[in-house]
Amino acid sequence: MRKVIFDTDPGVDDAMALRFLTRRPELDLLGVTTVHGNADIDTVTRNALFLKDRFGFPAPVSQGSGVTLLNRQGSPAGHVHGSNGLGDIDIPDTIRSTVDLRRGHRFIIDLIRANPHEITIIAVGPLTNLARALDKDREIARLVQGVVVMGGAFGMHGHTGNVSPVAEANISNDPEAADVVFTAPWPVTIIGLDVTQQVVMDAAYLERLRRDGGEDGQFLWDLSRGYQAFHQRTRRLDGIFTHDSLAVAYAVAPELFTIRRGPVRVVCGGLASGQTIQKPKQSPFPVGAWDAHPEQSVAVDVDVAGVLALYAGTF
Ligand code: BDR
Ligand code: CA
Repeated sequence: MRKVIFDTDPGVDDAMALRFLTRRPELDLLGVTTVHGNADIDTVTRNALFLKDRFGFPAPVSQGSGVTLLNRQGSPAGHVHGSNGLGDIDIPDTIRSTVDLRRGHRFIIDLIRANPHEITIIAVGPLTNLARALDKDREIARLVQGVVVMGGAFGMHGHTGNVSPVAEANISNDPEAADVVFTAPWPVTIIGLDVTQQVVMDAAYLERLRRDGGEDGQFLWDLSRGYQAFHQRTRRLDGIFTHDSLAVAYAVAPELFTIRRGPVRVVCGGLASGQTIQKPKQSPFPVGAWDAHPEQSVAVDVDVAGVLALYAGTF
């Protein structure tokens, strides 16, 4: 079993991914860290604790950063995920689970040091906690098995940004942190919009989860009503993108993805802030800032039917 830390900003698709992760026998969830993103840090942490109760997993939840690496305020996405981050469903006032007392980045460091070379971090929000952990203890880069990130857009198949013509939300919400994470000496796999926007859970798929998926199927259906309406309104899509679940799918079944290798940098500031760029293999610029950094893996294609079947298989 692969030991996993899930770094998240729940978030409708984060909640769907978290359930997926906890239902896959290949993955052993050791801890959840929260980060500003789809809602403010108190809200996403409350959501993570609620989901721990709801899905019944034992792993602790630790609260991470409420601001970016450079201490800027985040940009909540209430228009996508609802004002409570979970599609404005009713969340009970009383939540049984309580938060771990360690700060998110410290919790990440502790888990990696306690499980050297065994941990995969699956990060599906802005990358602030990971960048802070590297800042406090750079050695952890050599002690993880790998990092899988949902974020970025590399312009493949015409998939550009979702918060600007070039930037994806998680990276745009903390570009400096993302640049630290992508240029660190650990193996990162980036699951960006190039693949996540290929995979649509359409209305019929969601209806099947609701009909045949028991309580969890109904819960995910309830949760995703506003999210589906957002996709209909803005994309004329008869369904939803399943962004964060694809990072989990990669950790379970990497053979479903096609990967391109090369150093990755993030534009920090200006008109193209948050843009992710991978240096092409055949680049005519052999030396310089790009080559000083490790090659990372960027997903450029995905077996759509394969990942949809993998997800449905957990019900
Ligand atoms: C990403 O941004 C967030 O809104 C989603 O949860 C996902 O992680 C998609 O761009
Ligand atoms: Ca997310």
